[in-house]
Amino acid sequence: MPALEFIKEPITADIARYEEFLRTSLRSGNSLTEAMLDYIFESRGKALRPVLSLLTASVYAGGRPLGDRSLLAAMLVEMMHTASLVHDDVIDESDLRRGKPSVKAVWKSRSAVLIGDYILAKSYGIGMKTGHYDIVDCTVDAMTNMCDGELLQSEHSGKFDLTREVYDRIIYRKTACLIGVSACTGAMSVDAGVEAVELMRRFGDSLGMAFQIKDDILDYHPSSETGKTPCADIREGKINLPFLLVLERAPEEVRERMRRLMETASADDNAAQELSRLITSNGGIELATGEMDGYIRAALDILSTLPPSRYRESLEALCPYITKRSH
Ligand code: IPE
Ligand code: IPE
Ligand code: MG
Ligand code: MG
Repeated sequence: MPALEFIKEPITADIARYEEFLRTSLRSGNSLTEAMLDYIFESRGKALRPVLSLLTASVYAGGRPLGDRSLLAAMLVEMMHTASLVHDDVIDESDLRRGKPSVKAVWKSRSAVLIGDYILAKSYGIGMKTGHYDIVDCTVDAMTNMCDGELLQSEHSGKFDLTREVYDRIIYRKTACLIGVSACTGAMSVDAGVEAVELMRRFGDSLGMAFQIKDDILDYHPSSETGKTPCADIREGKINLPFLLVLERAPEEVRERMRRLMETASADDNAAQELSRLITSNGGIELATGEMDGYIRAALDILSTLPPSRYRESLEALCPYITKRSH
């Protein structure tokens, strides 16, 4: 059985209920809004965040069926993620997402910003009406961190003095925090208790750091595999982890060459490609993979403290799935 199917299998019925909840809750009646929502939901992503949330809920549910609180947690994390991708392609000026023209490429940035805001406002409105404020609070915190992380990244864009500490802060805020929140709100949704919620938070944070490092590595792969524009980070002046680790180790003349290529990479495709080759031929991918594996080991260590169950097996299978994925 392919990895993602194996991971989702024990929560198949819950995923179907979550998808129905999603389909019915975001509707507006306005034809442009509806057309944009249809486009966004037809180009389905991997849905890793709601799957993670429903799995950690199931781990702590003690065999009880999952209730509305768990569906709400899954919906909120996926909607925040969905809106962030729509906005991210505006910020990064990226025309390709999930193998198709991005929302920004089809409807222009103006409408893309608005539909992203619509998804956020609508889903939080639903969260507030249900009264599950602990879950809403936790997911709002992830959104705050995500915006802060993107701003921190913009602040350091194109700067060669990026440190590992700042890099870690950026990827924690922009990506790992929401994955940590996905794992912990699942546990929270079945009232698992403070320690369990904290444990799942640490598990999700580690998984999330590995997830973004893999995303950095995939930036060096062709769009036919990833469904996204290759070398996008280099073109945008983002120093991703393979880049940073090579930069930290390279002799001065290589660093100088990288600096010059980076200055022209946004407008010059050859410069972007040469910089990409320099990073890969200097072992950037292997170095970043080593760091990613460290986070995965930490995540698996946390899971080893849970009682054995089919849900735990799915969470364990998520770890290699994230590091081996091609998109
Ligand atoms: C992509 O996330 C954006 C990052 C946070 C790196 P995913 O790879 O989970 O996106 P989809 O939803 O599956 O397309
Ligand atoms: C992902 O950053 C962070 C988000 C908050 C969406 P990227 O800019 O690296 O994501 P992709 O590679 O475009 O999916
Ligand atoms: Mg991007
Ligand atoms: Mg990326």
